[in-house]
Amino acid sequence: MEIVEAIRERKSIRAFKPDPVPKRALGELLELALRAPSFANTQPWEFAVVAGDKLEKIKQAYADNAEAGVAGVADIPYPGEFPELYDSRRRAVGKKVFELKGIGREDRDKRKGWQLQGLRLFGAPCVIYVLTDRSFCLPPGGANPWPVFDCGLVAANIMLLAPRYELGTIAQIQAVAYPGVLRETLGIPESKLLLLGIAIGYPDWDDPINGLRSERDPLDRVSTWHGRE
Ligand SMILES: Cc1cc2nc3c(=O)[nH]c(=O)nc-3n(C[C@H](O)[C@H](O)[C@H](O)COP(=O)(O)O)c2cc1C
Repeated sequence: MEIVEAIRERKSIRAFKPDPVPKRALGELLELALRAPSFANTQPWEFAVVAGDKLEKIKQAYADNAEAGVAGVADIPYPGEFPELYDSRRRAVGKKVFELKGIGREDRDKRKGWQLQGLRLFGAPCVIYVLTDRSFCLPPGGANPWPVFDCGLVAANIMLLAPRYELGTIAQIQAVAYPGVLRETLGIPESKLLLLGIAIGYPDWDDPINGLRSERDPLDRVSTWHGRE
């Protein structure tokens, strides 16, 4: 698949078919994704690829936690607030999601149901957790953001490569909302930070939610040009 097409067509998938993802495709995709650049070639990423019974166990534990009202706190927590412009951009995409799902502003039950679907990775049969070393990222002298940046680059590669295998993806903070569950189920030590989960699987194109096209501010709003007419 052409890179331009991959970039243009990539979108977050929020309804997956249950069909399992072949291990071979995932291995090939991750091998390719590893070509991402990183600060001084440190390659600060690690992956935990989870499917089958283990993933079912995680999804159930996430749902149980949410039902019990236990707030999820990811290793890199959800932002406390979103200043402008970020808040309006966040609201715009949220509004589109709720419209497509037919969820009203005040419909608490449906909103909760949708949150649960997110915690269950929108039905994805597989997830790639992206991990990095806690001590490299959070040394005593102050945070080092570069490993997070680099992990973002490898995550982008994964998401851009997925359609080559007819797969869809969504990066999800929700997927790492209960890091304790993941540590216990997968044997991940405290020395690793769980940055992100990328849900991956075959998109259910019949679900209107996958028709969502998120907006982008125009280039002239986010760029200044210097030194050339
Ligand atoms: C780091 C990161 C975390 C995200 N977490 C979630 C999430 O927990 N739930 C969700 O529905 N979407 C999540 N998203 C998807 C974004 O909402 C989505 O990328 C954005 O709205 C742009 O839409 P697009 O990916 O379809 O272009 C996340 C994206 C990123 C990059």
